Formats: sequence, C-alpha cells, structure tokens
Amino acid sequence: MKTYYFDNSATSFPKPESVYSSVEIAIREYNANPGRAGHRKALEVARKIYEVREKVANFFGVKNSLNVAFTANATESLNFAIKGAIQKGSHVITTNFEHNSSLRPLYYMRDEKEVKLTFIDTYLDLEKSITSETKAVVINHISNVNGTVQDIRKVGDICRRNGLLFILDASQSAGYIDIDMERDNVDILCITGHKSLFGIQGIGVIALREGIKIDPILEGGTGSFSKLQRQPKEMPEMLEAGTLNTPGILSLGAGIEFIQKIGIEKIKEHEDKLVSKFLKGLEQLDKIKVYKSFTENQAPVISINIEGVDSGDFSSILDEEFGILVRPGYHCAPLAHKAIGTYETGTVRFSFGFFNTEDEIDYLLQSLKNIALQI
Ligand code: ALA
Repeated sequence: MKTYYFDNSATSFPKPESVYSSVEIAIREYNANPGRAGHRKALEVARKIYEVREKVANFFGVKNSLNVAFTANATESLNFAIKGAIQKGSHVITTNFEHNSSLRPLYYMRDEKEVKLTFIDTYLDLEKSITSETKAVVINHISNVNGTVQDIRKVGDICRRNGLLFILDASQSAGYIDIDMERDNVDILCITGHKSLFGIQGIGVIALREGIKIDPILEGGTGSFSKLQRQPKEMPEMLEAGTLNTPGILSLGAGIEFIQKIGIEKIKEHEDKLVSKFLKGLEQLDKIKVYKSFTENQAPVISINIEGVDSGDFSSILDEEFGILVRPGYHCAPLAHKAIGTYETGTVRFSFGFFNTEDEIDYLLQSLKNIALQI
C-alpha cells in the first residue's frame, strides 16, 4: 500500500538524497575519531566536523562557531541548558506548550533546586509574569501538538530589557523559521537535527551566546586536556564529552546545505500552503474538532479528533485503511493537551514537511471525509 507520511514533527521523511549519501561517506571515508589522534584520517574528520560547526553557526547567527556544541538530541541540549545554566532558587517562566524534554528537567529543577516555575500559554503573557526573582525564560518556539508559534523576537526583546536568560527549544522550528541568535537575542539555542533540518536521528546542537555561563552536567573524554581531573571549561569540548556522532554531524551539514539551496523562506511558504489547504478542507467536514495555534501564526502541525473515536483507534484506521501515517496520543506534551482541553482523550496529530504535496493533502481530506461518513 502506498503510504502518506504526515509525521514530520516526530522526524522528517524522506530526507534529501544528499543527506543519505553524506551518511555513507561519513562511515566509508571519514570513519576515524575526530580530535582523538593526530593521524591524517582523524584530522580529515576533525576538519569536516569543523566545517559543519561553521555552517551551523552561520545558519543560526552564532558569532563564534566554538560556541556550537554537538549533542545527541534536543533533549540532551535542553538538559544541559536547564540544569547547567539556571540558578538554584530562581524563578523561571515557561509555557504550557513545552515538550517533556524541557518539562522534565524543569520539574527536576523545581523539586531538587528550589526553582519556582510559572506557566503561560503564549509570549503575550510573558511580560506581566516577570517578578523581581525571575531569572530565565524557557520557550518552545513551535508546539508539537497544535503548531502554536511563539514570537521569539518579542521574547528576546523582553528578555533583553529585563536581563533574563533566554533558552529556546527550536526542535520544531529550526529549518522552518529563520532563527538568528544575535538578532533574536537568544542566549541558549537547543536544536535537534532530524526534523526540519533533515539530518538523521541522534544528532542535536546546543549553541551559546558569547559570555553565557553554563556548567557541564556530563563529563568524560574530550580528546583534549587529558590530565585535567574535571571537564574542560572551553567550548565546545565542555559540552562534548565522548566520541562525536560523525555520521549525524555530516548529515546535519548536508541538511543545512539543502535548506540553503532551496531557501528557508520557500520551504516555509510551501509548508504554510499545505497547512492552510488542510485547515480550509477541514472546515467542510462535520464531526471533526480541530486544534490550532494559540497565536497569530500557525506552523504546519495540527491536531484533530473525530467525535466519539479514540485517537489511537483513529490513527490505526488512517494507517491500516488509507496508508496515512500520523501520531496519536499526548505527543510527550501533557500540559499542551491540558491547554487545548484534550488531557483525557489525546489527539491525532498531522505534521507536514517540505516533501509533502498538495495532492497528498487532497487525499488526506478525502480519507477523513470517508471516515467521518462511516461514524
Ligand atoms: N517530539 C517528537 C514528536 O512530537 C518526537 O513527535
């Protein structure tokens, strides 16, 4: 059966051809350990990794590429940021649209480090939630449940004026919306490589603005300062304990090159067109409840429910009868489901990517119509 992949918030599929080949090249030609020896092969790999570090820095407006560290995923980056840079006893403002990758480290800080948390729905409530104890803001740029887009330039401006540390979870936005750490005043940027950046799974990034203080929460070999008992304080080694994921890093580099070739604005335009078409089509269908963005901007992530149908059953019907692949349930974002009123039921989530087409949206709408007619 032909399949229709609408689960790009979980991971993007397909990947550009250049990404597939970058992984093969990484394993075949660059399979030495970067920074762990002085032989030519190790140096070649280190050079390749340096090139991707530069590429990431240029793409996200990081002034000094040494402030870009490669991690395993956005979860690791967010753990580094939240546990390594937020002070004990401080007040932190975050949103109800955070993923568990931020929520769980934040709850850890609340329970173990006396951090007080305030949850808001959108950036529109940020300024009025600031108190004299507020030290940091943790924001998910795009909700992986309903595509709520937070205006990070406004958040950055508020943080700048109030002297707050701004930690951004760009898991769903990197590669879809242009992000510039300097322009947007983002202090710590946390990214995954395998979604809109088209890399493979297992690669993430944490990028720090110059002067941002962070303590490493993971320690180990860095290939440098071997006699030092504790983790080196120099970036990027400070946040890169253990052998780096060379295939992941090279795939990320190929993904960014692909985006630069197409143009991020063009990618966004295409995905925005798909989501508008989907929303317009849904208006014509009875029995379907749609959960959209809480702000003026809608990312290509939409949740829906059909009256009286369990979200797990609904997604199984879509898969088994129509070849439509989506994610049901809670999407690791429990507070988002509280905010949209689906804490008891969950939703079925559709997330579109650059390789989806308008014809696929037509097929999706027709399939939903068929299901709704049978209920
Ligand atoms: N965070 C990913 C999702 O929303 C895995 O599906």
